[in-house]
Amino acid sequence: MRIDIITVLPELLQSPFEASILKRAIEKGMVEIHFHNLRDYATNNYKQIDDYQFGGGAGMVMMIEPIDKCISGLKAQRTYDEVIYMTPDGVTLNQNIANELSLKGNLIILCGHYKGVDQRVRDHFITREISIGDYVLSGGELAAAVLCDTIIRLIPGVLSNETSALTDSFQDDMLAPPIYTRPAEYKGWEVPEILLSGNTAKIEAWREAEALKRTQERRPDLYAKE
Ligand code: ADE
Repeated sequence: MRIDIITVLPELLQSPFEASILKRAIEKGMVEIHFHNLRDYATNNYKQIDDYQFGGGAGMVMMIEPIDKCISGLKAQRTYDEVIYMTPDGVTLNQNIANELSLKGNLIILCGHYKGVDQRVRDHFITREISIGDYVLSGGELAAAVLCDTIIRLIPGVLSNETSALTDSFQDDMLAPPIYTRPAEYKGWEVPEILLSGNTAKIEAWREAEALKRTQERRPDLYAKE
């Protein structure tokens, strides 16, 4: 998979890709991340990428021309499956969207800033608009990092068996059951006995029941989807 991220603040986005699972996925060659600083595509001498809103109103708007130059340049080199715009008014990200995107080959992610982008960018270049939740960030960069993390860890081979994504919360619209590790007793607080029994079938049944209970209690909306 290849992800091209278009941003005005590449420095805000780099560190998530320099540690842990994302770093390993890049090192193993399972994903390539390329950052494109929108300012490098500015067309006038002032390196301008934003301008005042037509019709008046507070806040600057990201101009279409630098974005067009960047996206069209990328598209001239390879085909992209999706051109994604990170925006609070997009479709809210969930595990199904992450699963779907993890199967794609090439993605472009555009990070919004200021008031956002000229609507014509959205109308003519963007194939998908994604929000990471009902709150406003100062830019799309952190949202893009969240999206990349959730996609990349699902690419086959990125996670080892021990960290398999199949048992994560939200896969199958269920939350994950409680988990424990050594010591079996700490300050008198005990691990559920069944987990120490060695009876795999019983343990599995217990986990399923606990996952169900947790989902009913905490996320009845997920449970209702079943
Ligand atoms: N940009 C600003 N806020 C955002 C959000 N909640 N999701 C995606 N992109 C954003």
